Amino acid sequence: MQNSDIDLVNIQFQLNGKPIRLSVRPFDSALAVIRDEIGLTGTKEGCGIGECGACTILVDGKAITACLMLAPQLDGREVQTIEGVAEGDTLHPVQQALLAHGAVQCGFCTPGMVMSAKGLLEANSHPTREEIADALAGNLCRCTGYVQIVDAIEELAGSPRANEAVKR
Ligand code: FES
Ligand code: FES
Repeated sequence: MQNSDIDLVNIQFQLNGKPIRLSVRPFDSALAVIRDEIGLTGTKEGCGIGECGACTILVDGKAITACLMLAPQLDGREVQTIEGVAEGDTLHPVQQALLAHGAVQCGFCTPGMVMSAKGLLEANSHPTREEIADALAGNLCRCTGYVQIVDAIEELAGSPRANEAVKR
């Protein structure tokens, strides 16, 4: 089927605080639109089938795997990707905590980890270690063994900076 035979869907949403208007094919994934149409490639594509968490974004504050979300479902939503979490040159507290704990190695999983951790802290600013491990269970990391990642978020959650992490 040619693209010209397909009825496009007009969508509007907020992406990292900025309004976006696009026409998308009904079967496009949110991930494909964010990476290929909009050009924000910080959100990674790993498995493409909802199993690795590399493509995690926040939709209305909730962590979602963008490879499993259809682009038309972005309509009217507030979306945040990894490009929207730092403020200028100042990394988000979750990013700072991961770096401080040596929890970033190849970095492929890191954007998804950051978004899942941020989504957790927005829902629960002082999670337990078990709650952190649960929230990150869908994010696979082939490098770190996870301990440093959970340590980083646990230390952040126990510190006054947890509130700062929630606000941003
Ligand atoms: S690319 Fe989406 S979960 Fe793996
Ligand atoms: S740091 Fe390499 S996959 Fe997590």
